[in-house]
Amino acid sequence: MKGIILAGGAGSRLFPLTLVASKQLQPVYDKPMVYYPLTTLIEGGIREFCLISTPHDLPRFKQLLGDGKAWGLSIEYREQAKPEGIAQAFLIAESFIGNDAVTLILGDNIFYGGDTFQKAFGEFNGGATIFGYHVTDPERYGVVDFDAQGRAISIEEKPKQPKSNYAVPGLYIFDNQVVALTKAMKPSARGELEITDLNMEYLRRGQLRVQTLNRGFAWLDAGTSSSLFDASAYVQTIEKRQGVKIGCPEEAAFRQNFLSQPQLDALTARLPKCEYRAYLEEIVAEAKRLKKQV
Ligand code: G1P
Repeated sequence: MKGIILAGGAGSRLFPLTLVASKQLQPVYDKPMVYYPLTTLIEGGIREFCLISTPHDLPRFKQLLGDGKAWGLSIEYREQAKPEGIAQAFLIAESFIGNDAVTLILGDNIFYGGDTFQKAFGEFNGGATIFGYHVTDPERYGVVDFDAQGRAISIEEKPKQPKSNYAVPGLYIFDNQVVALTKAMKPSARGELEITDLNMEYLRRGQLRVQTLNRGFAWLDAGTSSSLFDASAYVQTIEKRQGVKIGCPEEAAFRQNFLSQPQLDALTARLPKCEYRAYLEEIVAEAKRLKKQV
C-alpha cells in the first residue's frame, strides 16, 4: 500500500497565517500539522509516500520532511499546479502509485484513537474503503447516507440539505483501478475532479465499503482559525494527561520497526534540546530497559 498526502490549496480561510507558510505547515499544538496525517499512515504500516502540494509550498515540505530516509521512509514530491480537485492527486501521482493500492490522506485531517485504520488497511482486498463520522455540521463535507441495513446508498459533496449526519473524512483507500477511473472523470461545475464523484463510481460498481468510525474516535479538522485552535487544545489535553504524543512520526516509525532503536537513538541525539527530544529520549530509554529484561 502506497500513501499520498495531499497538502495543496491556498489556505485562504486561515489568512494571514497562510501568507508565508501553507495551512499544513501551521502548528497544531507542538508539531506542524502535516506530521499528524503522516503519522496516521505510518501507524497503518505505510512506508512509501508521495506528498503533493503547490509549486509555492513544495520546497518547504521538502525542507521539513526530506526524502524520509532518516525516519525509515521514502517520500517523493509532486506539484499540483492548480487546485483542480482531490482526485487529481491520482493523475499527478500515477507513476508513484505504479501497480499498487493507495491511501490518500488530506494534509489537514487529524485523527486519533483506536485501530480502525490499521484494520482497514490489513483487511483491504480491492475496491475502495472510505469512512463515515457523525458530525454536527455535515453540510461542510462529503456526506454519506445509509439504508436500513447500514449499506451506503449515496454520497453528496457539501449538500445544502444533508441526508445524514455522517461526513466522509479525508482518508480514502483505493485499489489500482483508481488511476483509470480518475482519467475517465469529468471536472465538476467548480472545475475540480471531485473525490466524491470517484467514491460514487466505486459505489455504482458495488465496490465501495463505508465503515463508520465509532464515538471514541477523534477526527479534527483544522481548516479555520477556530478549529485550528480547538485541534491544538485537544492535542495538548491528551498529551498532558497521558504523557504520549499524538502525531509523532519518529515514534510511529520506530513502533512499526521502520527504524531500529540505535537509529532512533542517533536521530534523537541530533535534535536540539527541546521537549520533543526529551520525549524521544524517553522512548529510547524505555526500549533499552525492555531489551535488558529479555
Ligand atoms: C474535502 C472533500 C470532502 C471531505 C473533506 C474532509 O472537502 O471534498 O468530501 O468530507 O475534504 O476533510 P474540503 O476540505 O476540500 O472542503
